[in-house]
Amino acid sequence: MAKTPAKKSAKAPAIALTERQAKKAEKSEKASEAAKNAAALKKRLDALTKTFTDYNRDQMPPNSARIGTDEMLSRVIQVRDVYDLVKPPTSLGAAGLRIADEIQMDPALTVDSLRGLALQASFAIADEKGDGRYTGLADPQSGYATMSTWGPGKAHFLEFGGSKDAAGGTSGMGRVAWAKIESFAEKDDETAKGVVKLLDDGRAFVSGLFGEPLRADRATMQFAKIRDVSGVHADGSGSPNAFVCRTVHFLSAGPAKKRVIWGVAPDDRKDLTNLLSPSYYWYLGDLVLQSGQTYVGDAVAMGGHHVAGGAWGAHSALVHKVTPAADDQVAIVVDWVRA
Ligand SMILES: [Fe+2]
Repeated sequence: MAKTPAKKSAKAPAIALTERQAKKAEKSEKASEAAKNAAALKKRLDALTKTFTDYNRDQMPPNSARIGTDEMLSRVIQVRDVYDLVKPPTSLGAAGLRIADEIQMDPALTVDSLRGLALQASFAIADEKGDGRYTGLADPQSGYATMSTWGPGKAHFLEFGGSKDAAGGTSGMGRVAWAKIESFAEKDDETAKGVVKLLDDGRAFVSGLFGEPLRADRATMQFAKIRDVSGVHADGSGSPNAFVCRTVHFLSAGPAKKRVIWGVAPDDRKDLTNLLSPSYYWYLGDLVLQSGQTYVGDAVAMGGHHVAGGAWGAHSALVHKVTPAADDQVAIVVDWVRA
């Protein structure tokens, strides 16, 4: 009986060795498969990169280099596919990006009426709060009491939250402005009703697409002139409350186009809540919107998440740049999060 445990203990190392060997073999098999996959990924990325055009941040692709929406979307799909980001497929299609003609702009929403609404909301808040924060940001020429300025040409924007529980920025300004817009809508202000309806329609549309209830988190009305082009950038995801998708409603004073270029760039952000402003990018193509159209993109398409590594650096992100072709326009940008 005393020998049995000795025998067992003599056998034990042999079994352990075999297991270790098996594990080692499995590990090296996995490593060689991973190396093979990495090599294949690099090859695909290299091949893909060669088909795109390299631009500096401040350069716009020349007219001859413009690539239309269909080809642009197919390139976005290739970029996402390389990183397997289309599995499971995004509810917006493989590109995670589309023009949503289903969300109609109310005819009551015009550039002038939205300016009027923004002013009305701004002054109502300033009166009520007597808070320098709401008046201190005013541009003397525009009188937008609650508006911040942004971008090289100083576009104005009004943050208005979009639901009662939306944070609407660190100051809570968006929530206050949204409450004002809702109260104007209750008093039959046509523009305010149009904005509330736009968000209601948007919510129904994106919730239907994603098959789960989404709600508006942050929303801004951005007023810009033709000089106010945005630089090439990738949006932040707003993590930890990362947006599921973002809608951008475009409206101009007259019939006009808005060109949004898409590209992919090395992503050296430390934090995905920040915007990415790359020094160069690979041009993928253009999305051209008519006044009144909306585009919707998921967090990857809007640049809120990395898309690839390898040949493009540690991480890459989809980037975009917005160029209105009209002198005077408004974009209403809404971040949709899980309800
Ligand atoms: Fe953006």
